[in-house]
Amino acid sequence: MDFEHSNGEHPSVVLADICRRPEIKAQIIVFANEKGGVGKSTLAFHTSIALARSGSKVLAIDLDRRQQSFSRALENREATSRSLGIDLPSPQPIVLEHQTGAMLAQEIARVGAGATHIVIDVAGHDSPIARRAIAMADKLITPVNPTFIDLDSVAHFNAATMRFARLGRFAETVAELRAERCERGLPGTDWMLVKNRVRWAEKLQLKRFDSALDQLPAHLGVRLLSGLTERVAYRELFMFGLTHADCGDLPGMTNMTVRNSDEIIKFVGELDLKTPASPTANAVPRKQRMPAPSMKRYRQTLQRHVGSAIKSRETV
Ligand SMILES: Nc1ncnc2c1ncn2[C@@H]1O[C@H](COP(=O)(O)OP(=O)(O)O)[C@@H](O)[C@H]1O
Ligand SMILES: [Mg+2]
Repeated sequence: MDFEHSNGEHPSVVLADICRRPEIKAQIIVFANEKGGVGKSTLAFHTSIALARSGSKVLAIDLDRRQQSFSRALENREATSRSLGIDLPSPQPIVLEHQTGAMLAQEIARVGAGATHIVIDVAGHDSPIARRAIAMADKLITPVNPTFIDLDSVAHFNAATMRFARLGRFAETVAELRAERCERGLPGTDWMLVKNRVRWAEKLQLKRFDSALDQLPAHLGVRLLSGLTERVAYRELFMFGLTHADCGDLPGMTNMTVRNSDEIIKFVGELDLKTPASPTANAVPRKQRMPAPSMKRYRQTLQRHVGSAIKSRETV
C-alpha cells in the first residue's frame, strides 16, 4: 500500500514506546475516528457493557477529556444501579491524569490484573495518545455516519465516477501504524468500519454510499460490519447508563425490551471478540429493592425518554 507519511508523531516512535511497556494480556478494543459525533462513545459503551454482562472483566478507558461521554455513561449507570438497588454488570473505569503512553501503561498494569478486555474510546482528533491507542489495538472499530462528509476522514472518492481516489487523513494514520506493527512482527490489527445512524428512508443516498464503502476493504484492509440504525434508544438509554440488554432485567420492567436489540447483538458478534458477548447474563438484584412508587416513577421516566424504542413483550 502506498501512502505518504501523515503529519504527527512518527509511527516508529509510537510503536517503540508501546513495545518497551509491559505486555498486556487483555484484548484491546479501540473505537476511533478523527471525525466527531459518529458514535464512537455510544458503541464503546455498548460493547463494554455487553462484555461485562457476559462475565468478562473489562477496563474502560475514556481518552476524550473534553466530551467524557464514555465515563459519564458509566457514572450514569452507577447512579441507576444505586437508585434501583441492583448490581448492573459494568466495566471498571480507568481515569488517566496525564494522557501519555507511560500513564496508560501504568494504569493498565496497576488496575488491570486479570482483565480480559480493555475498551478504549478515543477523542475525535489526532494526538500522541490517540496514536498509541490505535497502535495497541487488537480490534479497531471506526464508526462512520453514512454521508460522504463523514467518510472524508477515511477515504476520498471521485464525485463523477464514484471510484476510490485516496485515503483520508485518519485512514493514513491507521495504515502507517498497522504497517509499523507488521514490521515489528506484532499481530495484525483487525480494523472494522461500521455504518452508524443509518436512516432507511434515505435509500438512494445509502445505495451510493454503500457502493463507495464496498471499495474500501481492497484499499484499506478493513472489514465492513452490518451497521446500526438511527434509534432514539441509543441516545436516551445512554443518559441512564443502560443498554438494550439491561432493560429486561430491571425490577418492574422485566417485560420490557428495546427495539434495537437485534442489531446491537449482531454488531457485538461481528466484532469477533475473544469471549463472545452473551446478552443473557442478568443484573443481580441487591438486597433492598426500590419501593414500588419510586420504581413506577423511574419506569415512567425511562419510558418517556426512550419513547417508542421500548416495547412490551406482551404486546408484540
Ligand atoms: N445509532 C444511533 N442512533 C441515534 N443516535 C445515535 C446513534 N449513535 C450515536 N447517536 C448519538 O449521536 C451523538 C454522537 O454520538 P457519540 O457516541 O457521542 O459520538 P462520538 O463519540 O463519535 O463523538 C450522541 O448524541 C449519540 O447519542
Ligand atoms: Mg465521543
